[in-house]
Amino acid sequence: MNRRKSSLLLLWMLVCSGGVTEAIEPISTSIAVGMAAALTGFLASYQNIFYYFHECCRPEWIYLNKTGLQVDLEAKLFGQHIASRIILKAVTGFMSNDNPKKPLVLSLHGWTGTGKNFVSQLIADNIYKEGMDSSFVHIFTSELHFPHLSQIDTYKSQLQQWIKGNVSNCAHSMFIFDEMDKMHPGLIDSIKPYLEYYEKVDGVSYRKAIFIFLSNAGGESIIQTTLDFWKAGRDREELELKHLETELSVSVFNNKRSGLWHTSLIDKNLVDFFVPFLPLEYRHVTQCVMAEMEAKGLQPDQNVAVQLARDVLYFPKTERVFSVKGCKTIASKLDFYT
Ligand SMILES: *[C@@H]1O[C@H](CO)[C@@H](O)[C@H](O)[C@H]1NC(C)=O
Ligand SMILES: *[C@@H]1O[C@H](CO)[C@@H](O)[C@H](O)[C@H]1NC(C)=O
Repeated sequence: MNRRKSSLLLLWMLVCSGGVTEAIEPISTSIAVGMAAALTGFLASYQNIFYYFHECCRPEWIYLNKTGLQVDLEAKLFGQHIASRIILKAVTGFMSNDNPKKPLVLSLHGWTGTGKNFVSQLIADNIYKEGMDSSFVHIFTSELHFPHLSQIDTYKSQLQQWIKGNVSNCAHSMFIFDEMDKMHPGLIDSIKPYLEYYEKVDGVSYRKAIFIFLSNAGGESIIQTTLDFWKAGRDREELELKHLETELSVSVFNNKRSGLWHTSLIDKNLVDFFVPFLPLEYRHVTQCVMAEMEAKGLQPDQNVAVQLARDVLYFPKTERVFSVKGCKTIASKLDFYT
């Protein structure tokens, strides 16, 4: 790094932390009082400009837009009335609490393509001005970040360092763990201390952080319950969390792979909300297509939506109610239909 760059970075760090005065003070008392005072004045007047252009861990860059989240969940997430409701309530409650007793821990469950990643994105979009591009949002995928079983000990300490380093930088950090069911139990154990009710761990408070776990665990039981509802001719929107909760926890506990991690997290009540994602039906796929066309700047076309949704695979074999891949492949498929 050249000198100009490094002094700019230093300047940015001072300004971002709002610590212009504090950081310069120790030097000023011992060395150049007048100079530091002048510099402080100069920097202070530029502080607002810096806040404006550089993402900082400050309310200018990090605040929940509740209306935004609500509107996004209603307009962009399809077929997930239960998840929608829980997420809005959980995130709003947490973000409006100035003194949370523990970090917010959400565990999203459901089959592939039902919107778990997408919801994480909506949450990030409505808390961080930079959305998923924010330097305070971190995504970990077991296969990408922790692929080798033999290096599990390295991964553990690395992950702990990352979480600690990032939360020290910004209390309002968000960590998304994708494919949580493929994650080594040891790794999950290593992050447990950060999810607790502790005031501080090694001098750092994690209480304002958000942890989101994504997994397919329990997906089958959610499908079964939703299918039973459908077969009984009941309205999908009548499905409530209580219909899924028991099944979900039983299947999650008994699943060999996911059981390992869940027991330790559930036992201690570290997960605040289990959020089920329902399998998507034909009509939701058409909604996804329409939304995708709009997102791509195309004129939403019902005919295209119907055509594409008809070509998607559905299960179970006889009833063909739910889309096999949810809305996952819609974006890439759309290119062939327009
Ligand atoms: C919050 O979200 C709404 C709806 O998307 C938007 O109209 C509004 O401008 C946002 N407010 C802020 C302060 O960003
Ligand atoms: C924050 O997390 C990222 C991974 O998302 C890591 O690369 C980085 O080193 C961490 N920062 C600190 C200060 O630990």
